[in-house]
Amino acid sequence: MAGISAARIMSRCEALAACSEQPGGLTRVYLSPAQRAASEIVLGWMREAGMKARLDAVGNCIGRYEGVRPGLPALLLGSHLDTVRDAGKYDGMLGVVAAIECVQALNEAGRRLAFAVEVVGFADEEGVRFNATLIGSRAVAGTLRPEVLDAADGAGVTLRQALKDFGLDPARAGEAARRREEILAYVELHIEQGPVLEAEGLPAGVVTAINGATRLAVTVEGVAGHAGTVPMNLRRDALAAAAECALAVERRCANGPDLVGTVGQFEALPGAVNVIPGKVRFTIDVRAAADAVRAGAVGDLRKQMQEISARRGLALQVKTTHENGVAACAPWVMEQLDAAVAAEGIPVRRLPSGAGHDGMAMVDLCDIGMLFVRCAKGVSHNPAEAITAADAETGARVFLRFIENFEAARQ
Ligand code: GLV
Ligand code: MN
Ligand code: MN
Repeated sequence: MAGISAARIMSRCEALAACSEQPGGLTRVYLSPAQRAASEIVLGWMREAGMKARLDAVGNCIGRYEGVRPGLPALLLGSHLDTVRDAGKYDGMLGVVAAIECVQALNEAGRRLAFAVEVVGFADEEGVRFNATLIGSRAVAGTLRPEVLDAADGAGVTLRQALKDFGLDPARAGEAARRREEILAYVELHIEQGPVLEAEGLPAGVVTAINGATRLAVTVEGVAGHAGTVPMNLRRDALAAAAECALAVERRCANGPDLVGTVGQFEALPGAVNVIPGKVRFTIDVRAAADAVRAGAVGDLRKQMQEISARRGLALQVKTTHENGVAACAPWVMEQLDAAVAAEGIPVRRLPSGAGHDGMAMVDLCDIGMLFVRCAKGVSHNPAEAITAADAETGARVFLRFIENFEAARQ
């Protein structure tokens, strides 16, 4: 298909990977100088591809390619531009770069469609900086809670202040919200981040739903003390209690079905070799393919952590920092993605997404769909994340075919 360049997609992912705050690796969090650099590059590519490009009120990059006449409702495509710490080069970025590539192909062929195409590079999906995930897409969906502006990063900088430092006005964050009638659907291309497509020898697959997720921030408070003088039976060691809680997460979430639980951050204070930890902060991330299964696990974990803390005479605080139900992809979008996959000669494989995506927020605004592209060994959230140029091209070709044949759902 004319216009899709695998070499350009791969080199653009490399270029974005160079926008990092981590020497020798990739970390790019929301509203950081590295993100500003990445945004400027992306806005430039959008313009080169024939789009009008802008930063919205919360820092998302938005490019718009008009249809046969200006002002038509848009098919919204894209993914996110922020990363986890020590990230791979494709989680998020591939979807933004591939969507721009598709618009560039349309533009080079002089094609205007019966609808506008917009590409979005969401500024915060991972939630690394403010522990409040999906800030970019929630703002676009109009569901960003105002209290999130008071969330602070590790250095105590609030989102409100970080927006100001980035040159944005927090009082106007609401202006990022889009109206329902402006958007026909949100469709995202993303690496699978799991091993299914590779195991089945398939370059791409169609997502059925994004699993639901709950994130908790937990603080266990005991009494800090001298590591040499306090007998074992008189200690109120916050780390030992938190370790029990972490093992409870592992045990409970091994009791599926389709349930996973992770303790990803764990911080002991004051953090010295000769001090009994007085306070521990840690996070829990629970995901499941069914909301009832996830709610059951989270409820049990809250109870078990209470029991552990009470037995040890410690104070426990549990705060929900993120909660999202299962986000189902729209059947009519899946059917059109199936058709594009089949037209490229690829067997149609549907699969759920265990990872979270911006569609979880966008589903409150419009119907959603996702196309997965195979990645190596299912590795993601890891610098070893890898895809082949051939798969990047295949994914983009499927995506372009989908866009060209897209028919909005009849209301
Ligand atoms: C985002 O990548 C998530 O699934 O946490
Ligand atoms: Mn991710
Ligand atoms: Mn992602």
